Amino acid sequence: MTRHLLLSLLLSALAASAPTQVADSLPSLIETRDAASCSQASRMSLAWVAEDFHFHSSTTFSTPADQISSGSLAFNLINTVLPFAMSCSAYSNQQDLFFYGNQWFSCMGGDPGNTTTAIFQFDRASGRLDLKQKWMCSDGDSSSTTAFFFGASGTTNVTLTCTTEESKNGIYSTEVVDCALQNVTIQPSEIEAYA
Ligand SMILES: *[C@@H]1O[C@H](CO)[C@@H](O)[C@H](O)[C@H]1NC(C)=O
Ligand SMILES: *[C@@H]1O[C@H](CO)[C@@H](O)[C@H](O)[C@H]1NC(C)=O
Ligand SMILES: *[C@@H]1O[C@H](CO)[C@@H](O)[C@H](O)[C@H]1NC(C)=O
Repeated sequence: MTRHLLLSLLLSALAASAPTQVADSLPSLIETRDAASCSQASRMSLAWVAEDFHFHSSTTFSTPADQISSGSLAFNLINTVLPFAMSCSAYSNQQDLFFYGNQWFSCMGGDPGNTTTAIFQFDRASGRLDLKQKWMCSDGDSSSTTAFFFGASGTTNVTLTCTTEESKNGIYSTEVVDCALQNVTIQPSEIEAYA
């Protein structure tokens, strides 16, 4: 247990101080049996794609004091190491930007056993997207399988390209903002591993 804790601290220290060297430094710290294993790939080639990242909002004004608004975010989260994607979405009625980078939302639909979790937050003003994911790799052959647990986080800047449409219907006026779908790559800034 002590060894695993130390390893975890060492990995996170390395990742935090020198993110570009993570891929070179980590494999030598942990014995790996299989070059193509999930846990080795997690250390060496992890990246995420927020696929079809989509922001949409709608605000309806009736009287000046009365408005109904909602904003939504949705994307599929692809972790290059894992064979499945997760579905990430969020709703907010916090005016006026809806997403202020101060609330974590969960992604759903990982592996059947729910060992994979992911959360994200988004700041619409700056475009900052923060992501954290945890997953498990079962490596080895049938005679000896070892479970390695990973936790990683990353941040990127998303540039939204949006259209705004306004319409009027009697006393109601509606403003709809819709942004073009895009695929956003996120590199990990910190990786923790423990067995
Ligand atoms: C996984 O999580 C979903 C959603 O929370 C839940 O419906 C399902 O029962 C969970 N599956 C297992 C195996 O715990
Ligand atoms: C995002 O933008 C901020 C502010 O411009 C910058 O400091 C930061 O390095 C950027 N992050 C990435 C991952 O590009
Ligand atoms: C994102 O990538 C997927 C898979 O390659 C592709 O099907 C989709 O069209 C891409 N979306 C955008 C907005 O480019």
